[in-house]
Amino acid sequence: MKRVLSGIQPTADSFHLGNYLGAVKQWVDLQKDHDAFYCVVDLHALTVETEPALLRRRTLVAAAQLIALGLDPSKCTLFIQSHLSEHNQLGWVLECLAGFGEASRMTQFKDKSQKSGADRTVVGLFTYPILQAADIMLYQAHRVPVGEDQRQHIELTRDLGQRFNSRYGETFVIPEAHIMKSAAKINDLQDPTAKMSKSSASNAGVIDILDATDINVKKIKSAVTDAGKEVVFDEKNKPGISNLLTIHSALSGISITELENEFAGKGYGDFKGAVADVVTAYFAPVREKTQQLLADEAALLKILNDGSQKARAVASATLDKTYAALGLVPRNK
Ligand code: TRP
Repeated sequence: MKRVLSGIQPTADSFHLGNYLGAVKQWVDLQKDHDAFYCVVDLHALTVETEPALLRRRTLVAAAQLIALGLDPSKCTLFIQSHLSEHNQLGWVLECLAGFGEASRMTQFKDKSQKSGADRTVVGLFTYPILQAADIMLYQAHRVPVGEDQRQHIELTRDLGQRFNSRYGETFVIPEAHIMKSAAKINDLQDPTAKMSKSSASNAGVIDILDATDINVKKIKSAVTDAGKEVVFDEKNKPGISNLLTIHSALSGISITELENEFAGKGYGDFKGAVADVVTAYFAPVREKTQQLLADEAALLKILNDGSQKARAVASATLDKTYAALGLVPRNK
């Protein structure tokens, strides 16, 4: 079985619909026929200053949501990045291999550091992609399911892996990006030409999975729609209705053509009501399951610790092999 690894940052109180359809749903599918490793990358989240109690809660909420959304700890390895010091250890090795110029060319770093200015940019933001490379190569992952925005980081990972292998001998599997073409492109409900994103100007266009049903129903009912009154898919002239059709179809499994037929002659109001029903039916149980998992923190931590243990078996073997290849003298175990 091919191995996959991916990570998600605990930087929000809830995943939104775009995160789910763009990433998590595909993680769930991949666990069926892959040896899948998924981690909540809390160390990466430290690049943004966060209140400690909030980071702690968001990390647990992220893990609980992943399980509630379908990651099955008996089918995949789910863990918290900071539970394994190997990530930092391999990270340092890769930092000593990565060029300063190479790291400076990462567009996410350039964008973020330009926005905040050099004095407000932490060094961790600069080395972020190198820690990410360590996350991946520690597990000898073949494929890394990520969004298009992460492509450059995976390229860097490959470059570092190839450089290490050619300098010190075959040590790492060179991973491939598995770019997740979101089954569906989910846009903001208030600005349906822009991607649904937690950084969008207002939260009114973002469906947070853990939000109460009435909040999300209200957001859907106030979604921006288009001139005209037919429910038809036309991204260019009807971005609002097209986005709602996409959401309905992605969650209900009913094709867009069938939906167009079903709502022929009915108005936007009826259609929005149907979208709200589908979203509610899909996520209400997820919310409940997430709350159940969070209510028994000891049990949740046990699941995550079991995951860390499975992860450690792989990570520590890779680290030993890496250290030996570098000529670091092995310690007594
Ligand atoms: N940088 C990724 C993101 O923002 C998160 C991440 C950290 C990751 N480590 C990873 C993704 C390893 C894939 C593999 O989405």
